[in-house]
Amino acid sequence: MRAVTPITSDARPRISLAGVDAGAKIVVGLTSLRQATPAPHRIVRPALKAPGDCVPGAQVCVSVCTRLCVRLSFAPIRARQRGAVVADAGDEELLMSLPTYPLGRSGLNITRVGFGSWAVGGGGWAFGWGPQDDEASLATMRHALDVGVNWIDTAAVYGLGHSEKVVGQLLRQMPAADRPFVFTKCGLVWDPTDRMAAPSRKLKPASIRRECETSLRRLGVERIDLYQFHWPDEEWTPVEYSWDTMTRLIEEGKIRAAGVSNFDVHLLDRCEALRHVDSLQPPFSLINRTAAEKEIPWCGSHGTGVICYSPMQSGLLTDRFSAERVSALPEDDWRRRSPEFLQPNLGRNLALRDALRSIAKGHETSVSAVAIAWVLATPGVTGAIVGARTPTQVDGWIGAASLTLTPEDLDAIAVALRQTGAGSGPVPSVRPVVAPRRSAYFGTAD
Ligand SMILES: NC(=O)c1ccc[n+]([C@@H]2O[C@H](COP(=O)([O-])OP(=O)(O)OC[C@H]3O[C@@H](n4cnc5c(N)ncnc54)[C@H](OP(=O)(O)O)[C@@H]3O)[C@@H](O)[C@H]2O)c1
Repeated sequence: MRAVTPITSDARPRISLAGVDAGAKIVVGLTSLRQATPAPHRIVRPALKAPGDCVPGAQVCVSVCTRLCVRLSFAPIRARQRGAVVADAGDEELLMSLPTYPLGRSGLNITRVGFGSWAVGGGGWAFGWGPQDDEASLATMRHALDVGVNWIDTAAVYGLGHSEKVVGQLLRQMPAADRPFVFTKCGLVWDPTDRMAAPSRKLKPASIRRECETSLRRLGVERIDLYQFHWPDEEWTPVEYSWDTMTRLIEEGKIRAAGVSNFDVHLLDRCEALRHVDSLQPPFSLINRTAAEKEIPWCGSHGTGVICYSPMQSGLLTDRFSAERVSALPEDDWRRRSPEFLQPNLGRNLALRDALRSIAKGHETSVSAVAIAWVLATPGVTGAIVGARTPTQVDGWIGAASLTLTPEDLDAIAVALRQTGAGSGPVPSVRPVVAPRRSAYFGTAD
């Protein structure tokens, strides 16, 4: 029995186990689409709802979607190595890909979760995350790509060039055809003589060009897939001058698409008048919901893609985060000073995190996956940029890419937001008990 089924939607594929003995354990291996031979026994974490529980004719639900070939192997030799009792049912193969969606009108089709490499920059600068081992970062990014993520977000300022260098190292180790899209940013310029000083926000044309050339060199690419202004300029440079430079960089083939981050609708309008804004990168999470008010709707009505940053509020909305963890953070981890990680906000934020546990349990997933899925459920959001420091952390949130929260889940989250008072920004409405439909998630009932 050998069947190859390309999966292009986010529907969870079901695979028939007809012919497999009761109690059979299932070995799940990954084979890269571009590799002729299977990667040696890479077992995907609980890719099957109930490994070991299958009965003849039962179906299993594969809950991890990847762009790789997931091989469900019932072949006696491999299965026996794992002590499984199986029928001679052969292999069933399934070609699966994480679904991709257009990033606005940029022409880039991206997976709903992308890898964020801020923490890859490590510590020793004003907004560092404490020590981070480069080999661990490389393994983490490789793993994120293996499980289907097709883009990496970085910035010149992360680790003062270090994150881009490590991303560049990863790209150089990969065949060009396997490379992910690389998004980076400019506009935060640091003083090389004072690593701990806060970088300045500069978007002068000459500075943008200088930064772009340096990023191309660090990344080792000929063209940046998406180049973004990190923050608005604070030196009175008219945004039109800065944005015009982006247009020229596209014409010169140095960047493919142009976006902005942390811009409000006033600045977005001024850029759009000159050239279309391909994407916006706003902060957006259950705790920081402000962008749902104006910026995300603006993008929806202008065909601009939205990739949200810090969807787990930089680690707060994860299963085991705690007040003790904050005290144990290294001195050079910026979160020690962040208001959301300090009382009284911290208590409210952790109460909100706790309220997500039952929803996560209902979907057999993690709190982090629920937090990210909530971001992705917001109309107008294209993707979420998610950070991780280890491959295991990636496994903790990759389920978000194929998780659809139910209206009941969204209601329960809206109630939890009201009860805990966590965060800021609009609180989504809860469906009235008797109401045919809602006009918008963040709106009121018809
Ligand atoms: N444009 C901007 O101004 C801007 C600003 C911020 C971020 N960003 C982008 O957005 C990306 C993501 O944001 P972010 O890194 O702040 O936040 P995030 O994705 O909400 O959180 C990432 C952090 O959470 C922790 N974590 C990840 N997976 C976990 C798991 N399964 N279980 C427990 N903890 C886990 C890790 O930190 P610990 O293990 O250390 O707790 C990780 O570094 C950044 O990397 C960057 O690319 C952009």
